[in-house]
Amino acid sequence: MQNDIIKMCLDWGCIMCGIVAFLSSNKVNTSNLLESLSRLEYRGYDSCGIAYINDDNSIYIRKSVGYVQDLKNDIANNGSRDTLSHVGIGHTRWATNGPVTIENAHPHTSGNICLVHNGIIENYEEIKNNLVEAGMCFYGNTDTEVIAKLIDHNKKIGMSFFNAFKACISKLQGSYSLVVIDSDTPNQMLCYKNVAPLVIGISDDSRSIYAASDILAFPQGIKRCIYAEDQDIIQVVSDGNTVSANFFDRNMKNIERNISQDIESAGEIHKDGFEDYMLKEIHEESGIVKHVYDKIKHKSLAHHRKICFVACGTSYYAAVLSSYYLEKYASVQARCEIASEFRYRSPIMERDCLYVFISQSGETLDTLYALKMVKAHGYNTFALVNNSHSAIAREADSYSNVMAGPEICVASTKAFVAQFASLMALFMPEKLDTNNISKNMDAVLQNNNDIKTLADKIISYKNIVFIGKCYHYAIAMEGALKMKELSYINAQAYCSGEMKHGPIATVDKDLCAIIFAPKDEFFDKTITTAEEITARKGNVVIITNKSNKEIIEQYSNIKSQSSHISYISDGDEMSYPFYEAIYVHLLAYNVAKKMGKNVDKPRNLAKSVTVE
Ligand code: F6R
Repeated sequence: MQNDIIKMCLDWGCIMCGIVAFLSSNKVNTSNLLESLSRLEYRGYDSCGIAYINDDNSIYIRKSVGYVQDLKNDIANNGSRDTLSHVGIGHTRWATNGPVTIENAHPHTSGNICLVHNGIIENYEEIKNNLVEAGMCFYGNTDTEVIAKLIDHNKKIGMSFFNAFKACISKLQGSYSLVVIDSDTPNQMLCYKNVAPLVIGISDDSRSIYAASDILAFPQGIKRCIYAEDQDIIQVVSDGNTVSANFFDRNMKNIERNISQDIESAGEIHKDGFEDYMLKEIHEESGIVKHVYDKIKHKSLAHHRKICFVACGTSYYAAVLSSYYLEKYASVQARCEIASEFRYRSPIMERDCLYVFISQSGETLDTLYALKMVKAHGYNTFALVNNSHSAIAREADSYSNVMAGPEICVASTKAFVAQFASLMALFMPEKLDTNNISKNMDAVLQNNNDIKTLADKIISYKNIVFIGKCYHYAIAMEGALKMKELSYINAQAYCSGEMKHGPIATVDKDLCAIIFAPKDEFFDKTITTAEEITARKGNVVIITNKSNKEIIEQYSNIKSQSSHISYISDGDEMSYPFYEAIYVHLLAYNVAKKMGKNVDKPRNLAKSVTVE
């Protein structure tokens, strides 16, 4: 059974990108598509495009390489953004198949067919060869163009739009969602969902229907939606007055899907006066800790004695951090697994263990597939997400929301502290003094000038290591990841005891070690590591607590050679990780800003990692 599941996961391949579309009996301002795409940019941002059907049934299409803002500028410079239409589609891309070019950007067209697609078509080469033999020409090299050509070809041999679409779907293999329009049939929009997410939004007056990868794309005021299930075919039809969505399975049997009420589509998301979303989100961290801890602590999971956390990236580090406290203070056996590894091993699973899947987006493919694998074996699953409507929340037996609010910056910051605070609330409901923690996290923000000074020194290093022991090590990993992601400096994390087992060989005058050493039970050991680094001419940055100033200054080697000593508030092991987390977030932010990087959209990344 497990092999079957692993094979199924492999077969599903990779899916990214964001799609949005509308069909309305009213005329809709097509600039709304651009606003929706801005909110979907977390799914990929290498190129984007929109298309809509004009009154004369011609198709307007505009694509751009780069950010949605580039497309907005391009459209503004080449005519009005404020065009009205009954039907339109939009796409933001994270390239998987075919390089980043205008030709490969979506929407893709063929004849009167125009479509957007999120996912991969595994057998596209074979279909493409057949279409080339049938005389069709291709302008780019994506699998998506093949879908457009195939539907167009089906129409040309006499099929209706709907039948051409159905016949196409029956030939395609892969994991994808799709929205197609046809200027010959402008009162219809056809959609298909398999693995890649697709949600249908319905306006209150039933005069407009939206389709998107995420409810975030819907305009404000959309309160009802239907989450499409795998292999749903959705025919959206306008009779000129109302618009309806008919759901079919692959055998064209009509199916009923539940309507979720009172959803909260984001509408406009603002930076609230901050320069970037990242800075805004870092500033939200202290408030979130208090909010989430107080809200969640009534939902205890403390009766579970064995936990297996499964997650990726920053969410995994939140698990590693939490496991330290679960074992020490709640006597809970806590194991941490990287989802992409866990899925491909043959993990020993246990009946009395609760499998906890942590994911900010709730869409991370590796975590989702690991969850499906554990569920398929009948084990107990729980999800910790920042999106209650996400695939991971819906798949798990139960879930909790970390209530961090939409996290727009690609690098996760506020979700990390929200995940940690949530896990503390779920397992140790009375342990955190959140008033004090919030206040001292704000103190780190107020100390930003000191962090900026440090950032000035750090930007010249090519080799940065973050070092900590036990819970500080989890923060070291988080710090190194943020530094890499945002500044592209190759930063590594080590537990202090491991330095002497190999990494110390890399120490020389060009290395900068950022060391977490507040005065706690690990201080002496960690300082020894710092001394070993200074003895080899490495530069050290010590992050310690204010009352430790006199003590740290007695370490003459550290003081004389150190590039920097930063002070956080006095605390204890329940509170230091919060101060250190916001510190490393702000440090990575400042380094990246000084290097002129785009902190909200670092290169090569996407917020929702729905690729293998
Ligand atoms: C790092 C970061 C990523 C995510 C990882 C998992 O700043 O954002 O490492 O933490 O891709 O994402 P989620 O939590 O959405 O499953």
